[in-house]
Amino acid sequence: MKRLIACMVALLSLSGCTAAQPVSNKIKIGVTVYDSYDTFISELMDNFDADMTNYSNITLQKYDASKTQSQQNKQVEKMIEDGCNVICVNLVDRTAPKKIIDLAKASDVPIIFFNRELVAEDLQQWSGLYYIGANAEESGVMEGKIAADAWKASAASDKNSDGIIQYVVMEGEAGHQDAIVRTEKSVNTLIDSGLQVDKLASPIANWNKSQAQTRMASLITQYRDSVEMVLCNNDDMALGVIDAYRAAGLSREQWPIIVGIDGTKPGLEAVASGEMAGTVYNNKEGQASAMADLAVALASKESTSSLNLEDGRYIRLAYEPITSSNVSEYIDQK
Ligand code: BGC
Ligand code: CA
Repeated sequence: MKRLIACMVALLSLSGCTAAQPVSNKIKIGVTVYDSYDTFISELMDNFDADMTNYSNITLQKYDASKTQSQQNKQVEKMIEDGCNVICVNLVDRTAPKKIIDLAKASDVPIIFFNRELVAEDLQQWSGLYYIGANAEESGVMEGKIAADAWKASAASDKNSDGIIQYVVMEGEAGHQDAIVRTEKSVNTLIDSGLQVDKLASPIANWNKSQAQTRMASLITQYRDSVEMVLCNNDDMALGVIDAYRAAGLSREQWPIIVGIDGTKPGLEAVASGEMAGTVYNNKEGQASAMADLAVALASKESTSSLNLEDGRYIRLAYEPITSSNVSEYIDQK
């Protein structure tokens, strides 16, 4: 079976579900994600689907763009033809939203972009365009702070005792705002905390666990146990790094400090077990519910004033640092 979820139309008007809030008219909301196999995106969408059950009279039309922008453009075209009142787009290529913006503008269907941020000039192209996500800089600073604290907490972190951190950055994806900014800010935060750093490598693993495992395995062949820190742009890649250390047969004392970002379910477990020194919570619950609220308001042509949109267009949820000291709160909550 092809991985593409062809066209999943889910009717969410749950008759008999007393909690469901009726919306005035029947509305249809379209969603297309860049890759439904991305852990963070799939957790975000699970939350969005759950949020949608709070409303009756809403039909959802969902697509997976399978990492192909041209395919995503066609999906948006189809959703407009099918009468979607608003469309949520997790762009494949954040630098190529033109076709989608033109289609939306021509048919007067608002678009909520999410997670993969288009440049501000593109969002200004038309008044019906919105963005929901988070401030990448904040996540990089928090990750750097967690890593710096972990380093300072144990003299054994400096395996070769040279007073310098020999580190690797596992990068998300070329050109993705979160990858670029998290890499820069996490390393700068180490330096700003008075630490000296020495970069060994910064491979790209496309947010993906198995790609990160492969990249780390080759670095372990090269450096054995002398890597002292691995800053990962997300949790899935941190988990791939852990798999590589495990597969190489290195004992836990030989592992570096490993930090991630997202606070996905498996990421939180790795923090709880001490395999990861920490992660940064990327508020998928908040992003999903903001997207649900905004989509419903736009589709039913209601006011968005209670949603506190920044510059009338943006909603950004705050990141939160997670270490062994507070991870249980997040595990209990999820
Ligand atoms: C998340 C990653 C995810 C990416 C997808 C980032 O914000 O941290 O886990 O793969 O978005 O665009
Ligand atoms: Ca060192």
